[in-house]
Amino acid sequence: ASRKLLLLPGDGIGPESMAEVKKLIAAMNADLNAGFETEEALVGGSAYDAHGQSISEADVATAMAADAVLFGAVGGPKWDSVPYEVRPEAGLLRLRKDMELFANLRPAICYPALAASSSLKPEVVEGLDILILRELTGGVYFGEPKEIIDLGNGQKRGVDTQVYETYEIERIAAAAFELARTRGNKVCSMEKRNVMKSGVLWNEVVTATHKNGYQDVELTHMLADAGGMQLVRWPKQFDVIVTDNLFGDMLSDVAAMLTGSLGMLPSASLGAPDAATGKRKALYEPVHGSAPDIAGQGIANPIAMIASFAMCLRYSFNMVAEADRLEAAISAVLDDGLRTRDIMSNGMTEVGTTQMGDAIVAK
Ligand code: NAI
Ligand code: MG
Repeated sequence: ASRKLLLLPGDGIGPESMAEVKKLIAAMNADLNAGFETEEALVGGSAYDAHGQSISEADVATAMAADAVLFGAVGGPKWDSVPYEVRPEAGLLRLRKDMELFANLRPAICYPALAASSSLKPEVVEGLDILILRELTGGVYFGEPKEIIDLGNGQKRGVDTQVYETYEIERIAAAAFELARTRGNKVCSMEKRNVMKSGVLWNEVVTATHKNGYQDVELTHMLADAGGMQLVRWPKQFDVIVTDNLFGDMLSDVAAMLTGSLGMLPSASLGAPDAATGKRKALYEPVHGSAPDIAGQGIANPIAMIASFAMCLRYSFNMVAEADRLEAAISAVLDDGLRTRDIMSNGMTEVGTTQMGDAIVAK
């Protein structure tokens, strides 16, 4: 089989983490005849430096034609003052929009070997396996108007607009119920209907979608701020959490700390199934950013990027056994006591990015 992957390593620790995934791809092609065909392109600040755009039109086209895109991370202080339209994040937002990646899957899984070193009590996180489903193409990150207005009296006004339409809420709710059926069969929807009109609509549409074909799934609702508290107090009460773009961004970062480090957290972003082929456009990326504070030192944790590749095997290529094996290899390497600095604890063996990647490939 031919499996087309576009690799977009990006900036900072993005390329360092992607290098470890490239080893896995090469090993799978050599040992398992996996047939991955990879292309690589620039995105973010490195793309801006090369040609003045955060992603080129040709590379957007390649992404649209690929079976899946693997994305590292973008950004860094070097590009803090480039024009807003070509800032590093613009390349990622452009891909999300053009590929219509409205469903962002962010699992928070606590590997057994890391439960004891979590910032929370081991019993709170041990065996944790929840999925935060974040709406990705709507809400306050895209709504218009979006501007800074000069009020002329030495004051300015910054404006962002939270907008959701029925179809956007329907399709993310349906995705949540379908994913829940393959897991613990529970969905908790989070919004702030007490202070936001878009929250009132979100609540109504999720409830209506549930009534219309998903009543076998347990549905609860929670205000998003209370949800943040509950996520820290007793996260195992949840199975799938479905929420909007902004709250999903924040709640998934909270969930990150339940599992030890941002360096452990993968994500997948999926589009709607193609009517003819059933194939979804998909982009896989770690939750973390480009980590400029540790970039270039060879100490970044590559597990978030590697686990993102495992999600790619599972969701884009239906290589479920291979995905299971890769996730088991990550768990086994942690059981052996190997730790990058971000997850280091007493008595464990500190390793760099390359050693961690090599150990996982070897397993
Ligand atoms: P960040 O995720 O890059 O880093 C936050 C902290 O976590 C840092 O102390 C970093 O060293 C640590 N960390 C993150 N990933 C790690 C890993 N794999 N191994 C070990 N430690 C890790 O977030 P921050 O600092 O807010 O943003 C840095 C840059 O990244 C900014 O330019 C930001 O705009 C960009 N960014 C890009 C994202 C993306 O490409 N999707 C997402 C978030 C931020
Ligand atoms: Mg974030």
